[in-house]
Amino acid sequence: MSDLSNYRKSYEKSELLEHMIDPNPLMQFKKWFHETEEFGGVDEVNAMTVSTIGLDGFPKARVVLLKKYDENGFTFVTNYNSEKGKALLQNPQVCLSFFWPSIERQVIIKGIAEKQTEAYSNGYFHSRPKGSQLGTVVSPQSQVIPNREYLDDKLHQLEKEFEHTEVPKPTDWGGVLVRPVSIEFWQGRPNRLHDRIRYTLDVNSDWIIERLAP
Ligand SMILES: Cc1cc2nc3c(=O)[nH]c(=O)nc-3n(C[C@H](O)[C@H](O)[C@H](O)COP(=O)(O)O)c2cc1C
Repeated sequence: MSDLSNYRKSYEKSELLEHMIDPNPLMQFKKWFHETEEFGGVDEVNAMTVSTIGLDGFPKARVVLLKKYDENGFTFVTNYNSEKGKALLQNPQVCLSFFWPSIERQVIIKGIAEKQTEAYSNGYFHSRPKGSQLGTVVSPQSQVIPNREYLDDKLHQLEKEFEHTEVPKPTDWGGVLVRPVSIEFWQGRPNRLHDRIRYTLDVNSDWIIERLAP
């Protein structure tokens, strides 16, 4: 159909050497996140791919937005009854990955997922614009629906219903916190000799830092 073997570029924007890295991977993530924002060329720096092992045994990856990160881990919001929600509640071993092409970086996080606190989920839900709140209520995420009108009709109905009142957060919607067990930082380099630095949590909760071959 199409030969893409000439798609090829040299990665030359940056490097990741041992003397540059922070002993704490969350601090290293913070540094890279801000550098990527400043470098520019990535529309949504917080867009990441979440991979789960589904109830059907297949891995599935899809993009979500990172909403917060701190010493506990990485948080996104979603519907707990969606395909990913059911998958991660059944098998909490998940993978998050970021690809920041303009600065030639990738970050891959393996971690254990759990529901965020109700306080977090409620607080975040009510901080959203009303339209987004209603969109969340309207959509039974990942379920089969009859047509587009199903969503539009339900939205119009709910817009009237909640015109003067607060929209309650659906019980099956909220934050997912992923507590990292390993975080790999990948920096593209010339001649395919990329830098890969991996942090792994050991039994004493210390971060072991290793360089991987590209
Ligand atoms: C840029 C972008 C951001 C997205 N952000 C979210 C998000 O924060 N939460 C979410 O549940 N889905 C988000 N989605 C939609 C998901 O990719 C996915 O379609 C949805 O969560 C259903 O996935 P599932 O059926 O595997 O559970 C986003 C999609 C894109 C392309």
